[in-house]
Formats: sequence, C-alpha cells, structure tokens
Amino acid sequence: MRVFQNVQDLGDLKTALAEAFEVKKDRFQFQHLGKNKTALLIFFNNSLRTRLSTQKAAMNLGMNVIVLDVNQGAWKLETERGVIMDSDKSEHLLEAIPVMGSYCDIIGVRSFATFESRKDDYEEKILNQFIKYSGKPVFFMESATVHPLQSFADLITIEEYKKTARPKVVLSWAPHPKALPQAVPNSFAQWMNAADVDFVITHPEGYELDPMFVGDAKVEYDQMKAFEGADFIYAKNWSCPGVTRPEDYGKVLSKDMSWTVDEAHMAVTNNAYFMHCLPVRRNMIVTDDVIESPQSLVIPEAANREISATVVLKRMLEAL
Ligand code: CP
Repeated sequence: MRVFQNVQDLGDLKTALAEAFEVKKDRFQFQHLGKNKTALLIFFNNSLRTRLSTQKAAMNLGMNVIVLDVNQGAWKLETERGVIMDSDKSEHLLEAIPVMGSYCDIIGVRSFATFESRKDDYEEKILNQFIKYSGKPVFFMESATVHPLQSFADLITIEEYKKTARPKVVLSWAPHPKALPQAVPNSFAQWMNAADVDFVITHPEGYELDPMFVGDAKVEYDQMKAFEGADFIYAKNWSCPGVTRPEDYGKVLSKDMSWTVDEAHMAVTNNAYFMHCLPVRRNMIVTDDVIESPQSLVIPEAANREISATVVLKRMLEAL
C-alpha cells in the first residue's frame, strides 16, 4: 500500500478486520518488519490520539519514529506556487516535502481543512503534494476531507461490540461552538457504506455531506426518528459542507442544543452504544450522563486507534 486515504485502499474489509484482530492478539508479532525503518509523522494541526497511537503503532512494528510539529519549531511554510516569498514564510513546501521524504521510509500527515477554499480543501491540495513530491508512501492522519485511521478504528470497535450481524448505525450531527471540518463524518460515512451495516445519517438541513461520501446512506432530518432502534450512535459536529449553498462552506449554521445526545435520545434506541472520535465538548455534543454510561465506547474506540494504525503501517512496510 503506497497511500492510505480511503476505505478502498485497504482492499477487502473482512480481511482487514481479521488482520486487525490478529494484531490485537499480539501487537508486537511483526517487529521484524520495521527494523531500521523510520516513520515521519508531520502535524500541521494539534492532536492527542493520532499523535500517540500512531507513534505507538510504529513502535509496535519496531520502527524508529520522528514527529514534526510544523507550527512549532519548523520554518513557516509557503504552500502556493508562484508566490513572491517576501512574507514571514521562509520555506516552500515544494522543497520541504522531498527533504522530509529523504529522512524516512513512510510519511504520515495531518493537515486540516482551512475553509479558505472548498475547491482546495476537497482537492486535498496539501496531502496530494506529499504524495507527489515525497517519493515515499503517505498515510492520512486526518486531512481536509478524510480521517481514515479514525474510521478504521471505529469499524473495528463496531465489529467488536455488535450484537446482530447487520447493526443499525446512525451518524448524528450535534452542536459545537466552533466551525469543525467534515473529515470525520465524511470518512465515517465512506467506511460505513463499505461495511455490512444499516447506515443512517441525521443532521439539520444545510449540513448535507458531499454525495461522494453519503453514497447509499439513508438521510433522515428528524433526529429522533433516525435514532429509533439504533444499535450504535456516532455523534459528531461538522460545519456546513457547502453542498447545497457553496457560499456557506465552513460556516456554523446552527447551534441547536436539541441535537445534543442525551438520555432521552438514547431511550428510543435499541440500547445503543454511544461513539465519538474525541476530543468531545461535553454537554454540547453529548451529556455527561451518556458519555459516562456503560454504553459509551469512546475509550475502547480511542484505544483501537493503535490497532488501526498498526495494520496500516504494517501494510505499508510489507509493500516497501
Ligand atoms: N480522534 C482524533 O483524531 O483525535 P486527535 O485529534 O486528538 O488526534
């Protein structure tokens, strides 16, 4: 595997899940693969889980790891070609990327949507430059539009906890004070469409996700109706994807607190498990009572980030 961006990059999902459970049984069994190999993890944005779980995954595989916080200690990077570089940006990404590539065997990059241009964000301008110019395999650690390591961990968690062969999984928008990217819901939708689940998306009008991610999912604007009989509730905020009104891209259109997942919402489900990728704003996205309930999977879900990252790095090492 040279690029990990979409669910299709993993090939057959059942095989990938079996590999994840094999890794989980003994996460150090593939140490020989990473000997004298280096993973470079590049962060343009903050992280707790991705940073720690991916480092741990690389160490599980016997790799050396370098972590670079681009905004803390590196030269400020220009990303646009043709710009006269007379501002505070000292280095161009077009030199920085091949230089970074020369120090490692595999590169992970986190670079969020900037909301400056929907076109640039949805074309994955930054990540595609790493793919093109680094000369190394690249995996997405949350880009402008997708967060595949998270979605793979979410799928592993659903597989572990499901009580029926084909559970009902609901992705629900929930309120948040700031404008958040669509990467997590986009990826979650993409992965759930590929998995064997009954998948429903619910959100207020105006928050329609890009059709390339919605796929065949059922979209239900009545949140309570969507929750009825659900086995898993996956809550997440996202800003306006700009599908119906491009001029609203990246805007917060609603902070309607009636969408906060509380016990009344969970009561209409099939004793559903609650999921969220974290970090989460308590009593905006979900109440204290729901996130602290025995049905909350937020901690095992985060723990599975180590497993999803180990499988992805293992696949990349095997293909070097
Ligand atoms: N879920 C997730 O990616 O967490 P971080 O932003 O802390 O890495």
